[in-house]
Amino acid sequence: MNRRNFLMNAVALAAGAAVAGCSKAQDAVAPAPTKSKVLVAYYSWSGNTKALAQHIATAIGADLFEIKPTKAYPSAYHACTEQAKQEIAAGARPALAALPDFAKYDAVLVGSPNWWGTLAPPVSTFIENEALAGKKMALFQTHGGGGAQRCGQDFKTQAKGTVIAEPLIVSGSRASRSQAEAAHWAQGLGL
Ligand SMILES: Cc1cc2nc3c(=O)[nH]c(=O)nc-3n(C[C@H](O)[C@H](O)[C@H](O)COP(=O)(O)O)c2cc1C
Repeated sequence: MNRRNFLMNAVALAAGAAVAGCSKAQDAVAPAPTKSKVLVAYYSWSGNTKALAQHIATAIGADLFEIKPTKAYPSAYHACTEQAKQEIAAGARPALAALPDFAKYDAVLVGSPNWWGTLAPPVSTFIENEALAGKKMALFQTHGGGGAQRCGQDFKTQAKGTVIAEPLIVSGSRASRSQAEAAHWAQGLGL
């Protein structure tokens, strides 16, 4: 082997070693941290909180779950408000038709309409479930002009998981157009 061939072989060997070394190094690199598995669960009587929930779930690629009481609230507004008023005064926790598989999720974002200044009772039933212990939780809510009132505070008291953020509060009349706000809040949770 003349000096030129020797040098060329040496360069080729070094390049091969570098490539092999590179793939070894790649094998050794720790995988990127897995994203949290997030559930967006909501109760909605007239569709506003549902629209907000859909924007949030889309923004972060989360699963959606509708909280449904076994017995639906009356579809007439006045009858619904009267039943809700009585239930809230009595601290009722209406039975739910179904529950998600909580074990699949690290974080559960929960949506409620503001009902008489607080959470809708089916939402209270949902967030008090012991299976939420140890999960990250946050509230999003819609309202008819009253804003947060006691919703965020009651959420903190009732939720079995760890509340990780301040609630997202959206006027019901804007909920269907709240994509940007929903995405900003949900992506800012760092899940
Ligand atoms: C039973 C009942 C009670 C309500 N109480 C309040 C309230 O105290 N303050 C408020 O701002 N809006 C109140 N609202 C209006 C809802 O919070 C608002 O329309 C909300 O966006 C409805 O969400 P949904 O369409 O997901 O049911 C009430 C609505 C109902 C049906």
